[in-house]
Amino acid sequence: MTNRAKATFFGGALIVMFILLFSQVAWTTEDQDNYMAAYTGADATMVGATVCLACHSDKAGAEGDDTDHVSTLGEEANRCEKCHGPGSKHNGDVKGILNPGKMPQDEVTTTCTACHETKGKFVKTEWVESKHFDGGLTCVQCHSGHSTNDSFLVTETVKELCNNCHEEIVTAFDTGTHGAPNTTCNMCHNPHNN
Ligand code: HEC
Ligand code: HEC
Ligand code: HEC
Ligand code: HEC
Ligand code: HEC
Ligand code: HEC
Repeated sequence: MTNRAKATFFGGALIVMFILLFSQVAWTTEDQDNYMAAYTGADATMVGATVCLACHSDKAGAEGDDTDHVSTLGEEANRCEKCHGPGSKHNGDVKGILNPGKMPQDEVTTTCTACHETKGKFVKTEWVESKHFDGGLTCVQCHSGHSTNDSFLVTETVKELCNNCHEEIVTAFDTGTHGAPNTTCNMCHNPHNN
């Protein structure tokens, strides 16, 4: 390659990177709808939770319990499809239905923040600027859609959760060299903005 061709090539590559970076931030609800449609079938429609539960009865949750989304969303007809997209093309195989556990980061953020734009220690605008977001994490690495504890965490405790990825710090914590006794990680750190 000549120097000029190299400059053009790298210039082009930079522009592409910039566009990719920018488009990642500018993910809109329209992008979300298009993504869901592309995944589940452009003309897919909602079928309602009763249909889903006929095959996935283990996801029913317990009435009056507030430790899982299905219960907290009550009898809302399309509650499964709020996170899984319209299900009429699913026909009981892995195709035609979204699984937030396999979705790209922006898509998961949009799905979850449709209802939780800001809630307590979670603020969407801080989340997308955080080291955890930079590191590629999605909500569902820490929270389960169908959980069994108040915070919907994927583990029993916050410490266990952090230990999945920060084992050295948790070890330091347990031996008294990081954080004070009788504290928990999230007393000093907010995982949504650090
Ligand atoms: C006729 C039975 C049936 C119905 C109705 C049904 N499913 Fe499924 N679903 C299945 C089967 C079977 C699988 C595949 C399991 C496997 O192969 O691991 C599956 C897989 C899934 C997956 C995992 C997809 C993946 O990529 O990992 C999700 C999420 C899901 N279903 C959600 C739903 C939702 C939401 C509804 C209602 C809109 C629904 N299902 C309705 C039978 C059904
Ligand atoms: C608040 C969002 C949310 C709602 C509402 C929701 N799910 Fe999910 N679902 C998830 C997430 C996140 C995952 C992937 C990670 C996990 O398993 O928690 C998932 C995974 C699944 C899977 C595949 C993995 C597995 O455990 O078999 C099935 C099947 C499923 N959901 C069915 C349902 C059904 C049926 C409903 C309604 C009764 C429902 N979901 C409601 C978020 C949700
Ligand atoms: C359709 C609306 C809806 C969607 C989509 C949704 N949630 Fe929720 N979520 C709720 C409701 C309702 C509650 C019950 C507590 C409340 O917010 O009042 C809740 C509770 C929670 C809690 C517990 C909050 C607390 O104060 O302890 C967490 C964590 C959570 N959701 C995470 C998620 C994640 C992660 C996703 C994406 C996979 C998601 N939510 C998608 C409606 C939703
Ligand atoms: C690195 C792990 C991690 C990630 C990633 C994460 N969370 Fe959390 N989240 C937590 C922990 C830990 C708590 C606090 C649980 C507690 O105090 O019991 C929490 C609490 C929450 C709460 C309740 C806040 C309050 O003050 O009432 C909401 C809502 C929530 N998360 C939503 C989300 C959403 C939406 C995403 C993705 C956009 C997300 N979280 C990503 C770990 C995480
Ligand atoms: C799924 C893996 C994962 C989980 C779970 C997780 N983290 Fe992280 N954490 C990361 C990654 C990736 C980074 C960014 C890269 C880095 O700095 O190591 C990070 C960065 C951090 C940072 C900033 C480090 C710095 O360089 O300034 C803090 C503080 C932190 N995490 C605390 C926590 C706490 C507290 C928890 C538990 C609530 C937690 N993390 C759970 C993966 C994780
Ligand atoms: C008493 C407050 C406190 C507690 C409790 C605490 N930390 Fe920290 N943590 C800090 C401070 C202060 C720093 C340094 C901040 C900085 O350098 O920006 C730090 C830094 C970190 C870092 C990034 C630095 C590194 O070396 O990678 C991670 C990751 C982290 N903490 C995880 C955890 C985890 C996991 C827990 C729970 C086991 C925890 N922290 C408990 C105060 C605390």
